[in-house]
Amino acid sequence: MKKIAFSILILMSVIVAGAFIFSPKIANGSKKPIVASPGVTLPDSIQKLIQKACMDCHADEGSSMARGKLNFSKWDTYDVDKQIKKANAMSKEMTKNSMPPKKWRTNNPNDVPTQAEVELVSKWAKSLQK
Ligand code: HEC
Repeated sequence: MKKIAFSILILMSVIVAGAFIFSPKIANGSKKPIVASPGVTLPDSIQKLIQKACMDCHADEGSSMARGKLNFSKWDTYDVDKQIKKANAMSKEMTKNSMPPKKWRTNNPNDVPTQAEVELVSKWAKSLQK
């Protein structure tokens, strides 16, 4: 009987220690942990498209105006609600051909998203709707 109690004690210590070791990292001073899941992961096909056509501006190295609204370098730190909202905004801007902006299209004619790519983003955004 004692042996069982001892085993349970060991098991509990392991669980508690594990919880400490694997607890989410605290972001610089903020008490709110960065939750890696269950976020929206960008599918490969969309990630490729974003890298090609959006991240000149919407990334840490991009323009401050663009990344202030949508920064794909920080996508994983957005909460799910924000990711879904941004996915829908992406779909909307791309369907209207407002993004990427006209000037960028003129300068990068080979990287302009195709109609198929725009539809891919719309479908993806719709699939996230709760
Ligand atoms: C040449 C730079 C540039 C490129 C390339 C670009 N954007 Fe933008 N984008 C901006 C700027 C600047 C703004 C903010 C000003 C505005 O709303 O017009 C913006 C705003 C947006 C917004 C509105 C964000 C919000 O929440 O209101 C969305 C969505 C967006 N872009 C999506 C995209 C997507 C998707 C792509 C790629 C297919 C893209 N952009 C490519 C510069 C760019």
